[in-house]
Amino acid sequence: MSNKPAILGASPIFENKVFIVKPSLPSPQEMEAGVQEIISSGMVTKGKYLKAFEEAVAEHLQVKHAVAVSSCTTGLMLTYQGLGLTGDVVVPSFTFMATVSALVWAGLRPVFADVDFGTTNLDPAAAEAAITPNTSAIVAVHNFGNPAEVDALQEVANRHNLKLIFDAAHGFGAIYQGKPVGSHGDANSYSLSPTKLLIAGEGGIVATNNDDLADKVRIGREYGNSGNYDSAFAGINARMPEFNALLGWHSLQRLESGARRRNEVVDLYHQELGKLPGIDFQVVREGNRNSYKDFSITIDAEAFGLTRDELQQALTAENVDTRTYYDPPVHRHTAYKHYAAPDLDLPNTEKLAAQSLSLPVWSKMDDEIVLQICEAFRKIHEHCVEVAEALQSNSAKVAA
Ligand SMILES: Cc1ncc(COP(=O)(O)O)c(C=O)c1O
Repeated sequence: MSNKPAILGASPIFENKVFIVKPSLPSPQEMEAGVQEIISSGMVTKGKYLKAFEEAVAEHLQVKHAVAVSSCTTGLMLTYQGLGLTGDVVVPSFTFMATVSALVWAGLRPVFADVDFGTTNLDPAAAEAAITPNTSAIVAVHNFGNPAEVDALQEVANRHNLKLIFDAAHGFGAIYQGKPVGSHGDANSYSLSPTKLLIAGEGGIVATNNDDLADKVRIGREYGNSGNYDSAFAGINARMPEFNALLGWHSLQRLESGARRRNEVVDLYHQELGKLPGIDFQVVREGNRNSYKDFSITIDAEAFGLTRDELQQALTAENVDTRTYYDPPVHRHTAYKHYAAPDLDLPNTEKLAAQSLSLPVWSKMDDEIVLQICEAFRKIHEHCVEVAEALQSNSAKVAA
């Protein structure tokens, strides 16, 4: 096998594309009895699987209420509304757009605060500095599955009498100081879409110990109708169908093994990629476990010899699928940039947006694939000068 990387004309390390995610799903046989029961009962929504799934999730998260909804986004919208938030909400910009879109749908103004470069999570000091007289809440993200600074953020929220919400889209499988993330703050909203560890096809869970909020989310997911057809407030349809709840229930049974395997995969990545200069890994605080919904590294171009984008192109040539989450960060999105003050300074967010690269990780990934991806990195780094020249001359040709 050639020692040159594919971007310089050698054969790619992988013949077929290695996708960034590979959903881990139950077998058709495991699903069969439940599917038959749903169809023969005629209850394709609001049936026994929804209830069983919600109860199982509440027990797993050690939380009083787990309310299933149609997505994390609708869960966030209903949570923001149900907690009665008003005015400004402090939120990271280094996040997926839905953290912020749900705020705007709920009539709130996002105020962007910086993250910590190592953990990539909302920095409690930056969040506190961003509080305005109109702030009603802080929204933090367990980013890429790495538990947020739960206690420090709660202290900030308490000091300023603010609500604290976690966008826990990546949170299933994450552990904060010995306990699954989920019972912290006022609420956690999870995603169950196919890129996550716990999959319901599409779907979300709002986890909370707050009885009033749980009621509001339950009513809110039914248009605001508490049952008497006199809308208590303007809700939406955010129900989770029975098939999705059934899939979610089976997926929950494999969550722990998936989270453990991902942590082993990441240990192997650390061991191998750690041999190369200029690559850094997300910092996970002592006592916490990352779910590794995503495995994201940062590339210091000077030390590695290529920029993040050049490395991504070289990996694409090797048939390795990657993502540049979150570039651009939300405060520079067309829909949200007007919320960012002209002098807004988010240095860690900007640096992460330029340097972060998410690599393939999934719950049943073989060591061999990880080792080959790392071998692709090694080759690319070894030829970094030629790779950079080739890419620069290509882009010069395109520009000419
Ligand atoms: C941080 C974050 N928040 C919210 C969402 C939205 O989740 P959903 O697709 O379930 O609405 C995602 C999606 O991946 C996400 O990454």
